[in-house]
Amino acid sequence: MSSLTIAPQGPLRGTVHVPGDKSITHRALILSALAEGSSTILGYCRGEDCLNTLSSLQHLGIPIKVEPDQVHVSGKGLWGLTEPAEPLDCGNSGTGLRLLAGVLAGQQFFTVLTGDASLRSRPMGRIVKPLQLMGAHIQGRRCGELAPLAITGTPLKGTDYVSPVSSAQIKSAVLLAGLFAEGETRFSEPLQSRDHTERMFRYLGIPFEAEGNSIRLTGRQSFQAKDLFVPGDLSAAAFFIVGASIVPNSEVTIPNIGLNPARTGILDILIEMGANIQILNQREESGEPVGDLWVKTAQLRGISIGAAQVPKTIDEFPIFCVAAAMAQGQTIVTGAEELRVKETDRIHAMATELKKLHVAIEETPDGFMVQGGSTIQAGHCQSYGDHRVAMAMAIAALTAQSSTTIDDTDCIETSFPGFYGKLLELLTNSN
Ligand code: S3P
Repeated sequence: MSSLTIAPQGPLRGTVHVPGDKSITHRALILSALAEGSSTILGYCRGEDCLNTLSSLQHLGIPIKVEPDQVHVSGKGLWGLTEPAEPLDCGNSGTGLRLLAGVLAGQQFFTVLTGDASLRSRPMGRIVKPLQLMGAHIQGRRCGELAPLAITGTPLKGTDYVSPVSSAQIKSAVLLAGLFAEGETRFSEPLQSRDHTERMFRYLGIPFEAEGNSIRLTGRQSFQAKDLFVPGDLSAAAFFIVGASIVPNSEVTIPNIGLNPARTGILDILIEMGANIQILNQREESGEPVGDLWVKTAQLRGISIGAAQVPKTIDEFPIFCVAAAMAQGQTIVTGAEELRVKETDRIHAMATELKKLHVAIEETPDGFMVQGGSTIQAGHCQSYGDHRVAMAMAIAALTAQSSTTIDDTDCIETSFPGFYGKLLELLTNSN
């Protein structure tokens, strides 16, 4: 198991390219597999999470040719998947497992979906329940609450599901199942979660209607394959955005980043905290807004964040905690209880690890409070096997008094292969 030891250093300077968007890559792979004909996905994320979805689709009989910067998918149409000979291993990926469950519920064959210890402890009832309402036959440990999930494919019927949780994974599982269902599938959620699935449906010509936070889709309509371009992942860029903001004299450019408004909470929040961030060259690629980011160091101020800002910032709270620690004044986050069911309990993990560096942070049931501006001390930290905790702590370490070690950093590979090398490049540019 690897670890990273990071000495206090800076500034971060130069241009850095980050991996393709993880959420968009999962969807591009799945929808290209279900399309009629072949397509190329450019700039896909090569993190382990997406590679597990890719190999699951190969096990489901989809030919996929993998190259360093693009993959070629030979789509077999809506009804072209075939029964895999073994359980599909989604590794660490909640998105992979939940979206594939939606696809597999309506097939004419049996599948088992599983993953690593973290994924096998995460809630699955949230997708099993709506899929069962559509007629799916799914069983799992603890009455379907935990993976492995055993899915006996069966004809599905559309349903009208009102989700108690705002979650793109629940929404996408239901919408993907809706593609195979007879009649109309309706889904609504309290606050809008990321809409990559809907945007890709639109791009590929899959008809649906959206109004506010509700979507209606009529199933069993085939669609043609189309090449897809995946922008850089804002959630990966966020580590360098916060790094450049808090490490003195930094100036970093991050080209070609997805700027879907349902994902840009971290930019809105950092700008409100006083960050010096500019968005340049805004454009649209494959139905998603994209732009280049430029960031320069600035003194941040504490902020209060409530439930309304949580869905569009959901994956950025680990690195946001680091920004809050370096800001002047108090930061309070509420309404973020979903963080407790991510790759690890991110509220507990970040509070515990930042306290080791002498940050004044206290967890609450649905968030945390940080008294910013204290001097960060060195420490020996854990990642809890969570890629975003590992990378957030690596950025915090740049500002510590002496070298900090983070254990169990292999998990960074799930979303950001090459993270440490890119960090070193930005640091060496300044020498
Ligand atoms: C994702 C949705 C989010 C996010 C996850 C990726 C997706 O989860 O945390 O990393 O690609 O749909 P929820 O939708 O469950 O909040």
